[in-house]
Order: sequence, then structure tokens, then C-alpha cells
Amino acid sequence: MRQRAREDDQDDVLFDPDMFINRVYATETFHFKDKSVTIKLSKAAAIIWPAAAVLCRYIEHYSSHFTDSVTLELGAGVGLCGVLMAQYCTKTVLSDYQDIVLELLKENAEKNTSEGHDIECSKLDWSVNLEEFSQKYPDGFDFVFGSDIIFWRESNPFLLKVVHQVLNQRTEYRQKNGIHSERKPQFLLTYYQRSSNCEDALKREAVEMGLNVEDVPLSQFIEESEVSNFSNICCLIFTLER
Ligand SMILES: C[S@@+](CC[C@H](N)C(=O)[O-])C[C@H]1O[C@@H](n2cnc3c(N)ncnc32)[C@H](O)[C@@H]1O
Repeated sequence: MRQRAREDDQDDVLFDPDMFINRVYATETFHFKDKSVTIKLSKAAAIIWPAAAVLCRYIEHYSSHFTDSVTLELGAGVGLCGVLMAQYCTKTVLSDYQDIVLELLKENAEKNTSEGHDIECSKLDWSVNLEEFSQKYPDGFDFVFGSDIIFWRESNPFLLKVVHQVLNQRTEYRQKNGIHSERKPQFLLTYYQRSSNCEDALKREAVEMGLNVEDVPLSQFIEESEVSNFSNICCLIFTLER
């Protein structure tokens, strides 16, 4: 699948998702405040993208919020954020749409499984198999998250549809089972700000779909002295309006 920038839309970004695919691997261990995660990753992309680093910082900072939660990572790539999240919550599903990425995700999930923390991988292409996915997970998810997954503008409405559907399923599940929680089901997105057009369209489409969008300043969960290390990284939280 390839997405092309429009000629009249100079600040849309051209990215080929195939660039993330490469079978030359390296293994690295990442250390967090009180956890370590070992990840096998493609050598071509053997860096942790800054948006993923920010998402990991969010997960660490708010780790106590995730106890007893069921969570979903969208466009997980090598799965660093999801594997970290899995250390804190009841169950985590890591999703992506490419078979080669899923293979790697499964390996990383197996490497980092710990007792009492369920982690699984599932194929989800936002534009193709949402119905099948939501039948597989009919109770939805308390917390959905993704880093650097919005730069294909044509995909964003599909991504938002997935978010809306799984948050809605969780809301209904909670209502049906009389579950009260301080926090609504939510979607946390971190991304490197590449295109204001893409970002504005995403926010507009989210609101049209019935989602609230809130900007989260990085200083809420990262020390002020470190925030400048993450310039151009944004963090948004989406919740259902109702
Ligand atoms: C830039 S990578 C980010 C990976 C990871 N979240 C990170 O920050 O390291 C974007 C990811 O989104 C996935 N992706 C792109 N389009 C998708 C779609 N339509 N459905 C599901 N995943 C998609 C790609 O396979 C890739 O793993």
C-alpha cells in the first residue's frame, strides 16, 4: 500500500510504509524507570522514534492508571510501547497490518511476557478488517494508543473509525456490566509534527465523528528540563463525546 502526497498539498508527507520492513534484525534492551524491555527490531529502523519514546514516558508516568485495564496498540511496529504497557495492565493487544511486522511483534511479545500480564498480537488493517477485529474483541478496550501512525492522510479516517468503534464497544461493555471508572475509554496518540494539514484534518474528522480531542502538554508527564529533547512531538487524547 502506498500513499502519495497531493501536488496541491505541499506539506503532506510522502511515506512508503514498506520502508519499515526489513529482515536484517538487531536486538536491544530499553531501560525504563522500573522496567526493562528487550526488543528485536529491523536494523534499518534500529532507532526508537521520538514519538514512541514520548508514549513510553506517558505509560511510565501514568502506569497506575492501567492496572486492571485492557489495552490496544495500533500500528505497533516493533511494539516497544505495547510491550512496556503490557507490564502494567491486565491484557494488551499489539496490532499492525503487515505480516512481517506481526511476526516480529509476536517474537517481541513472547520475549517480554510476564506472569499475570496477558499480551497478544492481532492483525488489524484499519481500512480492511475492523468488523472482524471488533467481533474478536467485542468488549473493546479501556486504553488505545499509537505512536507515529498518522502521516498517511488517506488512512486517518479509517484509523479514527477503529478508535471510535473500540472505545464505543468498551463504553457499552462498562454500562452493561455496571462498571464505573474515573477514566473514560480513551485513545492516546503521539506523533512527530510533520504536516499541519494532516493534523488539522485529523482533528476535524475526529470531531465530526463524535470524538473529543484534547492536547496534552508534554510537561504534564515529562520533567520541564527534558521537554526540549522532544521538540515537535505532540500528544493528543481522544474520547467519545457522549
Ligand atoms: C512509523 S511506524 C510506527 C511504529 C510504532 N508505532 C513506533 O512508533 O515505533 C507506522 C506503523 O503503522 C502501521 N500502519 C500503517 N498503516 C496501517 C494500517 N492501515 N493499518 C494498520 N497499521 C498500519 C505500519 O505497519 C507501521 O508499523
